[in-house]
Amino acid sequence: MESPRERIYLSPPRATEADIEAVTAAMRSGWLAPVGPDLARFEEDMAQFLGIRHAVGLASGTAALHLGMRYLGVAAGDAVLVPTVTFGATAFAVTYLGAVPVFLDMDESWNMDPALVEKAVTTLRAYGTRVSAAVPVDLYGAPADYGTLLPLLDSLDVPVLEDAAEGLGASSGDDMVGSFGTGAVLSFNGNKLITTSGGGMLVTDDADFADRVRFWSTQSREPEPWYEHREIGFNYRLSNLLGALGHSQLRRVPDEVAKRRQIREWYRERLTAVPGVVVQSDPTWGQSNAWLTVARFSPSEHPAAPTRVRELLERHNVESRPVWKPMHQQPVFADNPAFLTGAADALFADGLCLPSGTILDESDIDWICSLVISCLRP
Ligand SMILES: Cc1ncc(COP(=O)(O)O)c(C=O)c1O
Repeated sequence: MESPRERIYLSPPRATEADIEAVTAAMRSGWLAPVGPDLARFEEDMAQFLGIRHAVGLASGTAALHLGMRYLGVAAGDAVLVPTVTFGATAFAVTYLGAVPVFLDMDESWNMDPALVEKAVTTLRAYGTRVSAAVPVDLYGAPADYGTLLPLLDSLDVPVLEDAAEGLGASSGDDMVGSFGTGAVLSFNGNKLITTSGGGMLVTDDADFADRVRFWSTQSREPEPWYEHREIGFNYRLSNLLGALGHSQLRRVPDEVAKRRQIREWYRERLTAVPGVVVQSDPTWGQSNAWLTVARFSPSEHPAAPTRVRELLERHNVESRPVWKPMHQQPVFADNPAFLTGAADALFADGLCLPSGTILDESDIDWICSLVISCLRP
């Protein structure tokens, strides 16, 4: 049956009139060069929003991961601890430096399980492998357990780069996601909470970290009149035009978070009335930005529900998506070391990401939930 409705996407980008005006004004100002005042304002306001000192706009979150790990000294042959449930970019960037991502299973927040960290580090070191960084992710916008992870990794002498690509606007205690670790990575990809159509940022309290990343991202040009290079460079800087878009979008982060949390509540009210269905909650230590709402379906009560629900929604022109396929299950990482408990495998088998874009209203969620529930009935 064809749906009479327009397609509902998982997390579509949104541009307001204010965004269009901001980009137009930047174009009229003549700042079409890669850097300029709009990018500088975006960086300053982001740093202020997160309560940290420095922000460097980059072409993508992946670029920020690459240069962030480079600064932490990740080198060929090293091991880097990465949660197994994440988007591939977290692990890909490790390999750009010739290092090996080592996968850790998830805790109840679906983030890097602190209980596995010490075992992973001591095992790797026993084999003579240097563990040069850990990259916890704030999955679907829920903060990882930094209260446990940071002191533990510090005691093991493993520096932390926070992959906050999905977590802008979330918090843990009084601290914003993006303020943990030596540095953190943001993404402004088209499906994220705010977007520059493609872009990212490296944020840090460490001035030297920010300076080095800025330098490398603009082709490592030494301050000489000619092109002088003492180090390998990258063309990774965010452009001024995209900085103007990001600066405009940054203002609505609190509203975006409030609406996405509301959407998650609407789902919870309707779906958790069905036995065997749960909707992800905030962890006890923080507040998620609810970037994507994820439902889990008990396999004994609702066998194969994620696939059946996804296919039914698709027939009604509604996009949903399986949760990130764990990295240890990915063919490209089949031989990588992994410390597993089975939690990530279970989530991949019984979880489904539901449409969470802020253009949705309560009647949309009502309709989506009625479809989901119809699929669950015996
Ligand atoms: C957890 C995570 N890390 C890294 C990235 C990469 O960011 P980008 O697409 O901006 O390179 C993404 C998403 O795109 C992500 O979800």
